[in-house]
Amino acid sequence: MTKQPKTRKIKASERLDDVASNGDLALSASTPPPPPPETSTDGEILKTTATLPDWLDKYIYDELGAKFAPDHERYENNLDLNKEEVLIYLGTYFPRSYAEAFCISNSLLENETIKNAMSSKGELNLLSVGCGAGGELIGMLTAIAKHLSNVETINIWAFDGNDKALKIARLLIDKYTDLPINRSKICASIIHREFDSFKESDLNEFKIGKIKFDLIVSSKMIVELIAQGSVKAYYDFVKTFLPLLSPNGICALIDVTIKHEKLNKFNPEIMNNQISKALRELNEFQTILPSLCRENKDNCNICRFVSYKFSVSHSRKNNDQSKIAYRVIARKKLAQESALTLQTEVLTANDCPSIIERDIL
Ligand SMILES: C[S@@+](CC[C@H](N)C(=O)[O-])C[C@H]1O[C@@H](n2cnc3c(N)ncnc32)[C@H](O)[C@@H]1O
Repeated sequence: MTKQPKTRKIKASERLDDVASNGDLALSASTPPPPPPETSTDGEILKTTATLPDWLDKYIYDELGAKFAPDHERYENNLDLNKEEVLIYLGTYFPRSYAEAFCISNSLLENETIKNAMSSKGELNLLSVGCGAGGELIGMLTAIAKHLSNVETINIWAFDGNDKALKIARLLIDKYTDLPINRSKICASIIHREFDSFKESDLNEFKIGKIKFDLIVSSKMIVELIAQGSVKAYYDFVKTFLPLLSPNGICALIDVTIKHEKLNKFNPEIMNNQISKALRELNEFQTILPSLCRENKDNCNICRFVSYKFSVSHSRKNNDQSKIAYRVIARKKLAQESALTLQTEVLTANDCPSIIERDIL
């Protein structure tokens, strides 16, 4: 029998006190750790640590010349990175995106309902918006290879405005395609595109308006678009791309937790408000994770205070920690049938007051 996860209540006073010195939101160090998982076999624990696979570690550091050199300020906006900077991004931040996407996809695919829905298809269509060097793509492909053995073809459409990063993404996907762990034929369209906002005409321009996607992901790009002035970018993203989800498709939005100084708001709050508003308007979709948003049917007002910690280890750094806010969304039927509840979630439904309408910023 599946055990119910324990949740630890977070007090109101813990919330905004948790602004770390780098401007990130996190649960404070003084917060007692959540109770240890009761079991690791029921598929209901969000995996939060990963090691960069050997092939990927060797390829990026030894063959492509990636460098580990953290510099949070420089890498808050990555559209204009030059070749050297892309190699620093690759050695420093790409492994984090790999780990976050791998852990989230792995947890999703451990859920029987989601796994069965995905594995009934011989062909998967995957869209990544703002893929950069492709950390989240390789993370997702690795989780697919682990859980879905019968996918014959994976079609990828990946967009980004930095062509140097896209060259790396192409090399990595080609390298991944030739690995023994990959049993699928991979067809990747890697497309250079600088977005000023998201709109329906983008879909026609790239001839993706008629495609049904099984996975849609955007990792750490929308925060940059907001900083560039497209202040409704999460709202526009959901309204533009969610209708393209296949009946059992899943969309994952992953982002950093920085503060937008000009807007005087933390990114998770903007993300939460805009995604929830767009989902309420579309009325066909529901959040799967964080599970509280699902339970509260996207009337949630609290995820904006919380970040989730992940950790990646590789040859240049052991236990490199990152903090993100994320949402995984699907059509209501899949969201309800999968009923995912993950153990790392520290809040309870009572902490999550309903909101009727909020300003999306
Ligand atoms: C932090 S990186 C994330 C890359 C990758 N998704 C990951 O998680 O590692 C942000 C990416 O968004 C892209 N980006 C930022 N603004 C953009 C825009 N207006 N149009 C297209 N791409 C943009 C950058 O070129 C960069 O590759």
